[in-house]
Amino acid sequence: MIPVLPTTPDADDPETAPAESQPYRREIRSFVVRAGRMTVAQERAWRDLWPAWGVDNATTPLDFAALFGREAPVSLEIGFGNGESLVALACVHPDRNYVGLEVHPPGVGHLLLRCEAERIDNVRVICEDAVQVLQQRVPDASLDEVLLYFPDPWPKKRHHKRRIVQPAFVELVARKLRTGGVLRMATDWQPYAEHMLATAGGSQQLRNESPSGDFVPRPDSRPVTRFERRGQRLGHGVWDLAFRRV
Ligand SMILES: C[S@@+](CC[C@H](N)C(=O)[O-])C[C@H]1O[C@@H](n2cnc3c(N)ncnc32)[C@H](O)[C@@H]1O
Repeated sequence: MIPVLPTTPDADDPETAPAESQPYRREIRSFVVRAGRMTVAQERAWRDLWPAWGVDNATTPLDFAALFGREAPVSLEIGFGNGESLVALACVHPDRNYVGLEVHPPGVGHLLLRCEAERIDNVRVICEDAVQVLQQRVPDASLDEVLLYFPDPWPKKRHHKRRIVQPAFVELVARKLRTGGVLRMATDWQPYAEHMLATAGGSQQLRNESPSGDFVPRPDSRPVTRFERRGQRLGHGVWDLAFRRV
């Protein structure tokens, strides 16, 4: 079943919303669910493949060992897009368990098709707001790695509040990492890179893995995604960050 996610029209932007819409204003989210069309193949994936790889929305804590049928280090990717990096990483590291969180149903459908084609059994997918899933479902100190690759940069100043990387988000992620676990981020938008650096650098629970206290070299393990290729075409640089839970 394709989940119905809450939409976040501009009407819920407190700076642009008409006063009468304010009573219905929700918490600010880092995404707007796009009305992207599902292909026939993606619809089939949702229907036939979701039971094998999908995790239904709920508010109960996740038991990763039960979910994967084995104990293994858990990597969680937030906003996987169409799942390129998740699939590549899961294939290269069959000894790890990968959980993908994404709110865009066609992207989830795309990932399900790739999981079927590659016969991947170390990936599970949740189609839900990552912040909500972290708050409600991910046990503290249960993750070995959190991946946040090319999150929406929300470049306009009035939209900065929608950026997923905020002090409260960083503290939430840090709490979910085991001691020694790593938060890895990448962006092609320099002002967001600097914001990520300042925000994660401000956490007492995390230590920057960069010896120079700023960015880290691009890890060989990070596959190039569609958004990264788009950034490259536009001539953007790429900034990688890694922060370890102390
Ligand atoms: C710019 S895209 C990058 C996608 C992918 N990581 C890549 O590099 O190609 C950001 C993605 O994050 C997703 N996203 C944004 N906020 C999210 C949230 N709170 N929970 C889950 N996914 C989210 C969006 O739907 C979008 O697909």
